[in-house]
Amino acid sequence: MDRIIVNGGGPLNGQIPIAGAKNTALKLMCAALLTDEPLTLTNMPRLSDVRTLTTLLESLGVEVACLQEGKSMVLSAAEITNKTAHYDIVRKLRASFNVFGPMMGRCGEAVVSLPGGCAIGARKVDLHLSSLEAMGAKIDLREGYVHASAQGGLKGAEIEFPFVSVGATENALCAAVLAKGTTVLKNVAREPDTVDLAHCLMEMGADIEGAGTSTMVIRGVDRLHGATHRCITDRIELGTWMIAPAITGGSVELLGGTRAIVASLADKMEEAGVTIAETATGLVVTRDPNTQVKAVDVTTAPFPGFPTDLQAQMMALMCTATGTAVLEETIFENRFMHAPELIRMGAQIDTTGNTARVTGVDKLRGAPVMATDLRASISLILAGLAAEGETIVSRVYHLDRGYEHVVRKLRGVGATIDRVKEE
Ligand code: UD1
Repeated sequence: MDRIIVNGGGPLNGQIPIAGAKNTALKLMCAALLTDEPLTLTNMPRLSDVRTLTTLLESLGVEVACLQEGKSMVLSAAEITNKTAHYDIVRKLRASFNVFGPMMGRCGEAVVSLPGGCAIGARKVDLHLSSLEAMGAKIDLREGYVHASAQGGLKGAEIEFPFVSVGATENALCAAVLAKGTTVLKNVAREPDTVDLAHCLMEMGADIEGAGTSTMVIRGVDRLHGATHRCITDRIELGTWMIAPAITGGSVELLGGTRAIVASLADKMEEAGVTIAETATGLVVTRDPNTQVKAVDVTTAPFPGFPTDLQAQMMALMCTATGTAVLEETIFENRFMHAPELIRMGAQIDTTGNTARVTGVDKLRGAPVMATDLRASISLILAGLAAEGETIVSRVYHLDRGYEHVVRKLRGVGATIDRVKEE
């Protein structure tokens, strides 16, 4: 297991290229199950989560060819040879539960392991199951697996989600595109990831109206065909690297970034005193190293609200702000595990339930810290960039799940950062 060592304190300047979106890429890959023709995906991020899902899809009979060192992929599900998604893989990657909708749409049957809990919360799948039941699936939970079948195929239904779930919206959408009749999905996710999935499905021949609004109408078609689709830019990677020059001072252009996909973060960062400018090639984020950012309050919410996946990074930024910021996490019940690690670096944070009060300090100090999940790990690296002295982050395999070339990208803008093998 590797560790990342950061020697912080200096400003960052230069450019960072932003990769394709992890959360989109994984759902696009699952959509390949819906057709017997090849689906070509471009602008794919090279991440361990993508490799894990590749293994699962291959176990179901999908042939996966990686081109350009993984930046493009061709997925061919000519035949689905196995309808069971095993626990070994689903427990490692929750997004792999999103083979469920496509498998039900294509085959009318599937056996998928329940994902189980995860570090940031219980993360139930009841909405995924009830929406498929509404489309006529019979569901049985046995020995940790969902056994689902729909004799004669799925039928269109009207489904209103009680609250927004990205994963459940996407599973229901993928199931509905091949169902008989019309499905109306209400209170759906409007996340760019879900919208991009809908666009890809439409390029494959699906009939979908309303992607990006809170109601989607899906008229089932007999079959989908192959397509070539470009995965969108990763707004979470973009937001993460926007916070880097904000926490250290300096000026960094995030290549490929646009304001629209990170508007909620950009608004908060400007309120905190950071300058953000859109250029022809990306977004430039600037902060004078001789000033401090101001504390701003943040509440996470479904898109277009402030993303839960940027809460940990924003907390790192608030650790060095003037004043006290209140951060409220409304999506997951246990998503402040980075707080005790930031406290080890000198941060002042009080957490009660789903609220964290962060009082800024003049300087963070480097310390050995432990990554607990993907976004928590990157928040510790951001804090390390601003801290005096050396920060050693262990368990960096969490980072490899969702960030490409962390060390290379940060060195490119002047950070002192290294990755070493853990003894
Ligand atoms: C969520 C985030 C997504 C983020 C991803 C990875 C939201 C709305 N979703 O997506 O932005 O990229 O995590 O960190 O911000 N829930 C149930 N029953 C269900 C499904 C969900 O109770 O059947 C609950 C979850 O436990 C959670 C909330 O609903 O509290 C939202 O979950 P959901 O959007 O489905 O999670 P992800 O798809 O993982």
